[in-house]
Amino acid sequence: MTFKKLFKGFGLAGITILLFLSCVKKTGRDITNKNDGGVVGLAHFYNAYFPVGVAVEPHSLEGGPAALIKREYNTISPENVMKMGNIHPEKDRFYWQDTDQLVRFARENDMKLRGHALVWHQQHGDWIFTGDDQNEVDKEELFARMKTHIDSVMHRYKDDIYAWDVVNEAVSDKPGEVYRPSEWLEIGGKEFLVKAFQYAREADPEAKLFYNDYDAIFPHKRDKIIELIKYLQENDAPIDGIGIQAHWTVFGPSEEILRETLDKYAALGLEIQITELDVSIHKKEHQARERNEEDSDEFTEQLQKQQKEMYAMIFKVFREYKDVITNVTFWGVSDKDSWLNYFPVEGRKDYPLLFDANLKPKEAYRIVSDF
Ligand code: GLA
Repeated sequence: MTFKKLFKGFGLAGITILLFLSCVKKTGRDITNKNDGGVVGLAHFYNAYFPVGVAVEPHSLEGGPAALIKREYNTISPENVMKMGNIHPEKDRFYWQDTDQLVRFARENDMKLRGHALVWHQQHGDWIFTGDDQNEVDKEELFARMKTHIDSVMHRYKDDIYAWDVVNEAVSDKPGEVYRPSEWLEIGGKEFLVKAFQYAREADPEAKLFYNDYDAIFPHKRDKIIELIKYLQENDAPIDGIGIQAHWTVFGPSEEILRETLDKYAALGLEIQITELDVSIHKKEHQARERNEEDSDEFTEQLQKQQKEMYAMIFKVFREYKDVITNVTFWGVSDKDSWLNYFPVEGRKDYPLLFDANLKPKEAYRIVSDF
């Protein structure tokens, strides 16, 4: 039979269905580009659950990484460009270009943006704590500068950023110490937390306001985060949600702790976003250190299996908690660029994401997308 006759008998619709089925068969789920075919990746599969996002740098918005981002995600977070040191490097100077680029990309591709992060003890310009006389600023001046920062950044991106990490990592890792020692705390007292949320609400009443932290699911840190949130709530700080960073590993968390944590945070009346998800193959360490003989770059079959199981478990739980989880964001586009290749051990490879260094979906991707 000639193609013409076949086409006449079968019709365009039939051929389209065949093409679609062959694509689905090859990959488990169809991941053709939404811009070309109307069918998407992770964000599409999780349509009925929550938006799925990724942290990006301006260089990820071109070529292969950009195509991957467009295909898979419907929200983006700035990995670095909105941190105070980048966007507001001096008291009277802002640097908008990089964030503007992210905003354009999000607009063009119909994506939402999370803002990250307004107040943090790292990656801020030193100007924030140093007065014009070179002495440390007092509380009143610190709050005035914080307000200018929050107002300026939030106003500029009012139409584009729907959720903000207002305060990042203000809880201490030390036993018995609730609030992290920092210049924010030293000069402003814990009132700086309340002010940050109040200024943010005034700057953009529509935006969702989050407190964001790491190790947020482990009891030693979780109880302190709950204490901080209650302090905010009792002091009229308008907080909408908690950001669980989720820099996890193939060794943990357990399903039990994850569920218990989601229940506890939801009980505070907050929505939950998973803001910085990755699953390292190495044991968790918080301090940078030199590489030693025991450090391996190998992504063994055993580790691949553990990573798959960890991703399967956490997404199963996330799906069950879809009423309280309002975003899940991966921290990086692919294993090639992950921050975990540089921290805590510079140059030791890690493989924490769903896409390998060649941007190909890993087995863990199949597990997460094919449920
Ligand atoms: C923390 C911050 C992020 C980022 C990571 C490391 O989780 O919130 O902005 O700096 O560390 O990449």
